[in-house]
Amino acid sequence: MISLNGLRVGFAFTGSFCMLSKTLEALKMTAAYGADITPIMSEITASTDTRFGTSDYFKNEMLKISEKSTVISSIREAEPIGPKKLLDVLVIAPCTGNTLTKLALGITDSCVTMAAKAHLRNGRPVIIGVSSNDGLSNTAKNIGLLMNYKNVYIVPYKQDDFDKKPTSIVSDMELIPQSIISALDGKQLQPLILT
Ligand SMILES: Cc1cc2nc3c(=O)[nH]c(=O)nc-3n(C[C@H](O)[C@H](O)[C@H](O)COP(=O)(O)O)c2cc1C
Repeated sequence: MISLNGLRVGFAFTGSFCMLSKTLEALKMTAAYGADITPIMSEITASTDTRFGTSDYFKNEMLKISEKSTVISSIREAEPIGPKKLLDVLVIAPCTGNTLTKLALGITDSCVTMAAKAHLRNGRPVIIGVSSNDGLSNTAKNIGLLMNYKNVYIVPYKQDDFDKKPTSIVSDMELIPQSIISALDGKQLQPLILT
């Protein structure tokens, strides 16, 4: 049985809108294992309604599951994560190619990249649940960069529709709790590539 009892987990949603509902389930599992969740949403995720649901719906679900009263969704709100050492672990899931690439290249111009930068300065793990149509094309090199970075781990992933979307990959979000446990032990959860 996995226990994340009392672990302070930042859980950041970015704009892979089709994966938000599925990732809410992973968030529920993480909370059910005892984690104390700090909800975070990228600016676009916090402000955009799509055919996959409204921003208010996802925000309210995050608040309900985490039993918190606010979602961090600006650079200003994310900054104290560093100096106040607010988190033990930061999960970014679903993580867009956009956010992933910024993390790989050291760009900090959004709430979620600020949360990651602030958290990494404390030498603590960031766990990325990727979801991107260009994960095996334009974004692939940036996943490669991140795999080489200290304190960065990837949630195991697979091709979600190799026939219609041959360069698309999606992490198995159900593996987030196990990925957290492995990351705290300094290890990448294996196998990284699922079939
Ligand atoms: C309906 C919709 C679905 C999207 N799905 C994805 C996706 O699955 N993966 C991805 O990398 N980007 C996706 N995007 C594009 C991102 O939302 C866009 O790159 C955005 O700038 C990401 O910002 P963020 O990384 O700060 O959340 C989607 C956009 C829309 C409108």
